Amino acid sequence: MLCALGMASGGLRLDAADSALARFVGAPGCSSSSCHGGAGEKRSQWVRWNLGDVHRRANTTLSVARSIQIAAAARIGDPASSPRCTVCHAPFADVPAALRLNPLDRTDGVSCETCHAPAEPYLRPHWRPDFTRADRTASGLRDLENLYVRANVCVACHENVDRGLIAAGHPELIFELDGQALSEPKHWQEPGGFSGAQAWLVGQAVAWREVAWYAGREDQKTDRAIDRAAGLGWIVVKAAAAAGVRGADADAVARSVAGLTWRAEQTDAVLRALAGSAADFRDGTPKSIQARRAERVVLALDRLLSASPPEMEKRVETELKELFRLAQSPPDFVPAEFAASMEKFAARL
Ligand code: HEC
Ligand code: HEC
Ligand code: HEC
Repeated sequence: MLCALGMASGGLRLDAADSALARFVGAPGCSSSSCHGGAGEKRSQWVRWNLGDVHRRANTTLSVARSIQIAAAARIGDPASSPRCTVCHAPFADVPAALRLNPLDRTDGVSCETCHAPAEPYLRPHWRPDFTRADRTASGLRDLENLYVRANVCVACHENVDRGLIAAGHPELIFELDGQALSEPKHWQEPGGFSGAQAWLVGQAVAWREVAWYAGREDQKTDRAIDRAAGLGWIVVKAAAAAGVRGADADAVARSVAGLTWRAEQTDAVLRALAGSAADFRDGTPKSIQARRAERVVLALDRLLSASPPEMEKRVETELKELFRLAQSPPDFVPAEFAASMEKFAARL
């Protein structure tokens, strides 16, 4: 899986504890009822993943008609046995024999160790009651409580897709850490002090780094990637400045924001800065870039409102729906219309 994440991502930095020799045990190794396959909040992660997590069926997707069509158009044969698909949809398919502690079942799809790191080194000690977060990380569990580490894991599969596969009909991916973690759905409790707004911003900054990397690669560059990188750069620089973080380097912004003790006033400041951006949709920037700004800004408003007092969210419900409608289809995007709607949104906020 380490190589799989590395392949999909430009900037994934693996934790020091991610030993290249750690072996995978497979999801059944986590599923005992006294571990993560039991009843009740604290022991039910396997059950929730098995019954409700989208990733559980990622491998099955490779057998549906749409996958056969994409694979035919991309001339790659059976999608279920092509690393170009399994790298994200069935990571166990590509794990070398030397890294398998048990026989691995590729139908697990995206499973525990894909995100949490191969379990061999931490399997035994990690349930000890005196094990701290630092101990867990030192034993090889990825520190997914750290939003920067978490965002890097998700973005590796959730933003860039090889341009040949997009041309063959693979859906375009848009990474957004906060809302997508909710709809995974979450099998964890966030620690005190967690803010969805902070998660959102860390996620957008790593997405910017990844898309900018693709936009600069001869073998991946497309107008689409260039526009998407410009849209992300716009929103990250604006939002980070409002949150009090300076800098135009995507990775540095992601790390700085992840390290902040986030305050409610920062959510409010970012929300108001983005709501007040109508002029940026009248500034003569090419329409194709403005469409990408809009695509990101509507998702941002949604997440920032979600992290704001509920009466605020209620007040602008209608205006936000209208913004979503206007941003829905980049080819049909009309900047002046969107700018006027943003002004209405800002006035009601
Ligand atoms: C190894 C690759 C991989 C990693 C890592 C990964 N995902 Fe996914 N994710 C997928 C694939 C593949 C699908 C499509 C599943 C299907 O076949 O329907 C998916 C689907 C989803 C979906 C449903 C579709 C959507 O985009 O709304 C959500 C939500 C999601 N993932 C959230 C996350 C989050 C949050 C993380 C990080 C904590 C994450 N994923 C990490 C591969 C990955
Ligand atoms: C970079 C990671 C990545 C690669 C490589 C990849 N996919 Fe996906 N794929 C995803 C994610 C993430 C989603 C979920 C998108 C969403 O719902 O927003 C997805 C969605 C899909 C869907 C739509 C599923 C649905 O329920 O709508 C199909 C079909 C699909 N992928 C097939 C393929 C095939 C076939 C290949 C190889 C040719 C492939 N994918 C390669 C990450 C990937
Ligand atoms: C798509 C990525 C992903 C997959 C797949 C995944 N997890 Fe997680 N898991 C996370 C994230 C992100 C967190 C939140 C950070 C944290 O608490 O470490 C988390 C948290 C947890 C926690 C801590 C719970 C809490 O309330 O703090 C446990 C235990 C856990 N996962 C077990 C599992 C098990 C067992 C599986 C497989 C059945 C699994 N995870 C699959 C991403 C994933």
